[in-house]
Amino acid sequence: MNPDETEPLTGSGDLKREAEKTLGSARRRYGLLARMLFVTLDLVYGRKRTLSKFKVLEVIARVPYQAWEHVAYIAVTHTYRWPDFARRIFDFVKESRAQQDNEQWHLLILEELVQKKGIREGFFRHRLLPQFIAFFFYHTSWLLYVIRPALSYSLNADFEDHAEHEYMEFAKENPSFEHEPFDSTFRENYARLSNLADLFRRIGLDERMHKEESLNRIEKARFS
Ligand SMILES: [Fe+2]
Ligand SMILES: [Fe+2]
Repeated sequence: MNPDETEPLTGSGDLKREAEKTLGSARRRYGLLARMLFVTLDLVYGRKRTLSKFKVLEVIARVPYQAWEHVAYIAVTHTYRWPDFARRIFDFVKESRAQQDNEQWHLLILEELVQKKGIREGFFRHRLLPQFIAFFFYHTSWLLYVIRPALSYSLNADFEDHAEHEYMEFAKENPSFEHEPFDSTFRENYARLSNLADLFRRIGLDERMHKEESLNRIEKARFS
């Protein structure tokens, strides 16, 4: 959820309305790198939306924020003689870290669900390969950021837009989730939601906020 938001939406009615908004809106026109990533994921994990596939998305989702945080810390090291400027960079670090933490909850909640449902996963496809893809995505995000931050934000906006739509579609195509309670050890850390459909709609809404944050940064970069 949005780290700046004191009262995140958790009611079923509100979340359903937000899901409708996503499902009624067109996806972004994804760039080449994002399309390559989505095609690779479809080829390796199948086109069908599954908990295991979403878990792979979440392993990857954290790394752009880690890459930006890394570059920003280097920048702080080089600019601390100008405290006001260094502080603005540090505010950016804190924001990136909050989003990274949010993705971390998504990942832990999904892992817990996979284990509870007894879904079998292979070591190579579900443990090793996601880390390789994340490694590649980290360096791509890092390099794009160093070349031009807007390029890295744009790739992330594509990734988050895709995740937003996929989660909302997942909630819609699984009506049984409406009756499965969200019973998790992470409930207090994440959000008190009544069922799994609301959980996926809530995660989808988080992804929309991450996307909007990246789009705002593109705008800021344009006018600075
Ligand atoms: Fe996520
Ligand atoms: Fe996200």
